[in-house]
Amino acid sequence: MQLVRAHVLVCGGTGCTSSGSKQVQEFLTKELEKHKLEQEIKIVETGCHGFCEMGPLVIVYPEGTFYVRVTPEDVPEIVEEHLLKGRIVNRLLYKAPATEEQIPAYKEITFYKKQLRVALRNCGSINPENIQEYIARGGYEGLEKVLFEMTPEQVIDEIKRSGLRGRGGGGFPTGMKWEFCRRSPGDLKYLICNADEGDPGAFMDRSVLEGDPHTLIEGMAIGAYAIGCREGYIYVRAEYPLAIKRLKIAIAQAEELGLLGENILGSGFSFDLHIKEGAGAFVCGEETALMASIEGRRGMPRVRPPFPAQRGLWDKPSNINNVETFANVPVIIMRGADWFASMGTEKSKGTKVFALTGKVNNTGLVEVPMGITLREVIYEIGGGIVGGKQFKGVQIGGPSGGCIPNELIDTPIDYESLIAAGAMMGSGGLVVMDETTCMVDLARFFLNFTQAESCGKCTPCREGTKRMLEILTRICEGKGVPEDIDTLERLGRVIKGTALCGLGNTAPNPVLSTLRYFRHEYEAHILDKRCPAHACSALLVYTIDEEKCIGCGRCLKACPVGAISGEKKEPHKIDPEKCIKCGTCFEKCRQDAILRL
Ligand SMILES: Cc1cc2nc3c(=O)[nH]c(=O)nc-3n(C[C@H](O)[C@H](O)[C@H](O)COP(=O)(O)O)c2cc1C
Ligand code: FES
Repeated sequence: MQLVRAHVLVCGGTGCTSSGSKQVQEFLTKELEKHKLEQEIKIVETGCHGFCEMGPLVIVYPEGTFYVRVTPEDVPEIVEEHLLKGRIVNRLLYKAPATEEQIPAYKEITFYKKQLRVALRNCGSINPENIQEYIARGGYEGLEKVLFEMTPEQVIDEIKRSGLRGRGGGGFPTGMKWEFCRRSPGDLKYLICNADEGDPGAFMDRSVLEGDPHTLIEGMAIGAYAIGCREGYIYVRAEYPLAIKRLKIAIAQAEELGLLGENILGSGFSFDLHIKEGAGAFVCGEETALMASIEGRRGMPRVRPPFPAQRGLWDKPSNINNVETFANVPVIIMRGADWFASMGTEKSKGTKVFALTGKVNNTGLVEVPMGITLREVIYEIGGGIVGGKQFKGVQIGGPSGGCIPNELIDTPIDYESLIAAGAMMGSGGLVVMDETTCMVDLARFFLNFTQAESCGKCTPCREGTKRMLEILTRICEGKGVPEDIDTLERLGRVIKGTALCGLGNTAPNPVLSTLRYFRHEYEAHILDKRCPAHACSALLVYTIDEEKCIGCGRCLKACPVGAISGEKKEPHKIDPEKCIKCGTCFEKCRQDAILRL
């Protein structure tokens, strides 16, 4: 085996690829050749590290030096300074937002320090297109162990004892679900992986698929053995081309090594895995709709029972789990149920991956132990609120999740606590909001999404969400009436209780939770015709304070519609008829002379 002196990891995740990591990698290859270093230094294209905002990322081992926002032009300096002379290129290091301190080591960066990577354990560390790298990290040992040392019942028992709950939203205990399907009568059963990931802004599952596809394959093979399935499907949206490409490569490699297909490792157990590309409708993530879609029918949910474990794909008993759920399985088998259950809270074990976005300094993908508080995630991992603004709340659980206000920032992240606070774990969206976010507008944004994605099969969801959206739009435009609040609450409750599937059952959550904690904002819009966050443009009025205006002309020059007039050194005026309320004058004025009412 050839020994190398250093590894240079170049992130090949979708985020870094879109900010130019492929070109960085090409330049790096050429530069290493130029210096005749290609035998000594190995380039590894990895999956996402989670900190996409700082991409393209380059990490040099053995030191673990973390370079951010690397451009092709930076490559010669990295090679000449770091790889030839052993000197760190300081200007490319990550800077802590609060202190501006440069942090060279990957593990010392606050974004990573409090994370605990179980599902993402290999993402960013291995080349996902090379099965040997997965095997070198202990990959497929879990599968080997179950096939030769454990009965299916023992596997189910181990998963049950670990306390693993589904990471796709509902949090149903995985071992129990496997047991139902195993006990269901019938020889032909299917195992399905839900990799639809329809939540806007979410990329938890995509990162596992792109960064560590073998983890999913191994988790599924273990699940198939436990339940007694010979065939499986991964339902992945067609908008994830890199994930599909890497899954195909991984399946082919696993088949070649006898880790998938007929008579796996000579054990007598066989499992075939297929990929089904979905067309990208949110409702297709709902399990009965997803199965209809695999069968080639329109992705519409149906009434349950019968549950998929009784009658699922092609009317056969079927088990469906999320990508992150499966990604936890091989580690549980190898490290044991007790190890897994030692992380998290009493009822929520292990870790959870979140897509941290919004008004927080460090956005990206984070994996944290269950039970960590929102404050730790926002202020320690996320580095606090952008521009030092006031924290207002978080929207957690995706489009059908709920809002948690700043008073509850010490809420632990676990299934029960989030539900008690009026939100839910969901699949892992975590949007941080500051004082400039209007909660009525936010509720409208999410309802607009679920309303557009409703398949229309049941009346409460089809008609009810439409009515709720109309009311919210009216309120944001300053045309709300006092009865609107009661109507929203009543409609929300009815839709939750009567809709056919989870989409309708949860669609009113953003509205109901904002009404619970931010009712005063609804009242301000309706009664005072005022948006307290100054976000709803229909309710804003811009004027100029004549006492403060020095007639510098900055606002006049910046106004895109010529709504501002005035002579130099004389107070200016805004024509309300022409003003489009874009706020440019407000941002440009250095005298605080623009008033936003
Ligand atoms: C409208 C809707 C969309 C959903 N989208 C997803 C999804 O994208 N991925 C997912 O794993 N689960 C999704 N779910 C939940 C699944 O229906 C199902 O509960 C889950 O895949 C089960 O896996 P788990 O037990 O491992 O969580 C969705 C549910 C609903 C109602
Ligand atoms: S894609 Fe590179 S860090 Fe996410």
